[in-house]
Amino acid sequence: MDSLLIKGGVPLHGEVRISGAKNAVLPIMAATLLTAEPCTIRRVPQLSDVQFMGQILKSLGAEVQFDGDSVSIQAKKVRGVGDYELIRKMRGSICILGPLLARLRKAKVSLPGGCVIGSRPIDLHLKGLRELGARIEILNGYVSATTRKLVGADLFLGGRSGPTVLGTANIMMAATLADGITIIESAACEPEVVDLAVFLRAMGAKISGEGSPTITVTGVKTLHGADHEVIPDRIEAATFAVAAAATGGEVTIQGSRPDHMHAVLDKLREAGVRVERNGTSLTVRRGGRLKPIDITTLPYSGFPTDVQAQMMVLMTLSPGISIITERIFESRFMHVSEISRLGADIAIEGPSAIVKGGKRLSGAPVMASDLRASAALVIAGLVARGSTLVKRIYHLDRGYENIDAKLKKLGARVERVAD
Ligand code: EPU
Repeated sequence: MDSLLIKGGVPLHGEVRISGAKNAVLPIMAATLLTAEPCTIRRVPQLSDVQFMGQILKSLGAEVQFDGDSVSIQAKKVRGVGDYELIRKMRGSICILGPLLARLRKAKVSLPGGCVIGSRPIDLHLKGLRELGARIEILNGYVSATTRKLVGADLFLGGRSGPTVLGTANIMMAATLADGITIIESAACEPEVVDLAVFLRAMGAKISGEGSPTITVTGVKTLHGADHEVIPDRIEAATFAVAAAATGGEVTIQGSRPDHMHAVLDKLREAGVRVERNGTSLTVRRGGRLKPIDITTLPYSGFPTDVQAQMMVLMTLSPGISIITERIFESRFMHVSEISRLGADIAIEGPSAIVKGGKRLSGAPVMASDLRASAALVIAGLVARGSTLVKRIYHLDRGYENIDAKLKKLGARVERVAD
């Protein structure tokens, strides 16, 4: 298992190019199961999660060919039973369920595991598919779904914490080949859901309302192949923006979609960070003294839970009290104890983290617990005096393309070391 050795205290300077969005490409790859024709997806980030989804599609019988930052997928023939171990490992793999059911009228996939950020149930996915006419059983760790035919329905996908991103993706994909019209109420509005709708439309699907809480899908008989370029990763862009601000540097983030990042940019400005937008590029630099801020994570267009951990590091540097309230995942504070090892003063009170900021961080060995926690620890290491060893960075490789190379280009002293 690799670790990242960071010698901190160097402000980041320069330009960084943002890769395609992990959370957009995973459901888009799954959507290729809806057609026997070839599909090409471009601006595909080289990530272990993407490789993993490629393996899952291959295990279902699809031909998958990666070529630089594009992938060609053709699912001429598809098996309805996914490899138990492969699927179980990655949460994003649940979005093969909708397409398999729509294409084959039966699907058997292992339940995706829970993970350190919360229990992550799939009840809303199953509820939506049942309302489209699927019979679903959970047996021996598998979700087994069958249907004589999927039929469009009016359904409500809101849960305890609001809409579900992958649930919306799953139902939208299943509905493309259903008989009649499906109306998804309380649909997730995330840009990744919109990108999936754009891809599905390019395949011949009839979808409207994506990006709003009401999505309408009119079922069609078949879908065809399509060529699509994935949107830039707003979470990667936000991570670099926070890193630039935290280290007191100046970074131009290129090839991004600032219009997908309003909540993050607004909070950075409130914290005293200078942010300039110029088309698809963003320049971020520390304006002066950092100010404390309060954040509540919310579904899009609110502040994203996937940037909460990174922002916490910036808060530890801002003199005063900042409060983060996590409203999406109940236990997404695993990073707190590790950031505290570097000298941060953070207390957890129910769903909130109270950060007493204005601390000077100093390097220490820390352990990454999940993808975004790892990103936060890397930012903390970049700020801290001395050396920080971030262990288990395979989490980072799941979601950040070439993060060490990108950071090095910005002047960071980082090195990947094998344990
Ligand atoms: N929920 C339910 N029932 C369900 C599904 C979700 O109660 O059937 C709850 C969840 O427990 C959570 C909330 O609804 O409290 C929202 O979860 P959601 O379903 O939206 O999450 P997801 O679709 O599984 C995606 C991203 C996550 C990101 C969340 C929220 C992918 C592959 N994953 O997960 O990304 O945090 O949306 O925006 O798209 C990451 O990239 O690090 C990451 C965790």
